[in-house]
Amino acid sequence: MSLAQASKRAVAEGPQPTGLESCRETRSEVDRLKEVYREYGERCWRKTKWSVTNRGNLAIRQERERKLEQLLQRTGFLPLGDRRILDVGCGAGETLAGFGAWGAQPENLFGVDLLADRIRRAKENFPKLTFQEANAEALPFGSGFFDLVVLFTVFTSIRDHQMALNVSREINRVLRSGGAVVWYDLRMNNPFNQHVRGISRKGVRRLFPEFDSRLMTVTVLPPLARRSGCLIDLLYPCLASLPFLRSHYLGVLIKP
Ligand SMILES: C[S@@+](CC[C@H](N)C(=O)[O-])C[C@H]1O[C@@H](n2cnc3c(N)ncnc32)[C@H](O)[C@@H]1O
Repeated sequence: MSLAQASKRAVAEGPQPTGLESCRETRSEVDRLKEVYREYGERCWRKTKWSVTNRGNLAIRQERERKLEQLLQRTGFLPLGDRRILDVGCGAGETLAGFGAWGAQPENLFGVDLLADRIRRAKENFPKLTFQEANAEALPFGSGFFDLVVLFTVFTSIRDHQMALNVSREINRVLRSGGAVVWYDLRMNNPFNQHVRGISRKGVRRLFPEFDSRLMTVTVLPPLARRSGCLIDLLYPCLASLPFLRSHYLGVLIKP
């Protein structure tokens, strides 16, 4: 069986046994998350807020891509070649599609998200990639199927401790030994958004205790970067040189 056939089959076979049956029901957290994202959608503010037509947002994205490429290179994951990649909480798919620039094959790129409308948009935007509406507490893939699991601003949205543990356990299950989580998330609370909470290094370690974690601080505080206007090219490197202005952790967590 070819890799592409194996990939499609992994999805088609549906949910694998996950051990979730024994976990506490997190239905209320699923409902809360859906409600929060419905509100974001109604206000449309996230979309405009993060648009790369703002040069500050563009600088944030470029810095993240540059540093991630260096990290993946250093840890031996580039070129991506035949590696299978799962984006958990993939939203409309842009982050996952970006891995194509590092040599990933479309048939090896998979995304899951709780939200049906985001998965619909992801499928429309990137028809060659595989997207599925799913709760990451029960991932519809076999054990050890992936080389990389991408987690961009997902755990800071999850407020329920049990759901966070269930999701990290599932990620551990579908990741092969020697594979890695690609982590990018807030390290501090956002005073303008009570729906998210920052995650410290210790918090990351609690989620993936066995993993070898290589995290760095990145991303100039977005409200500051966005207000830098046409001075951004000059200002961003200066602001980024001050660690206390960096709002996120970026890194890889390697599974033993
Ligand atoms: C802040 S968004 C980030 C989207 C995307 N990763 C990005 O960086 O643009 C967080 C996403 O995680 C998803 N999510 C949160 N908990 C989830 C869960 N248990 N299972 C699947 N997706 C989840 C949400 O639906 C949402 O689309």
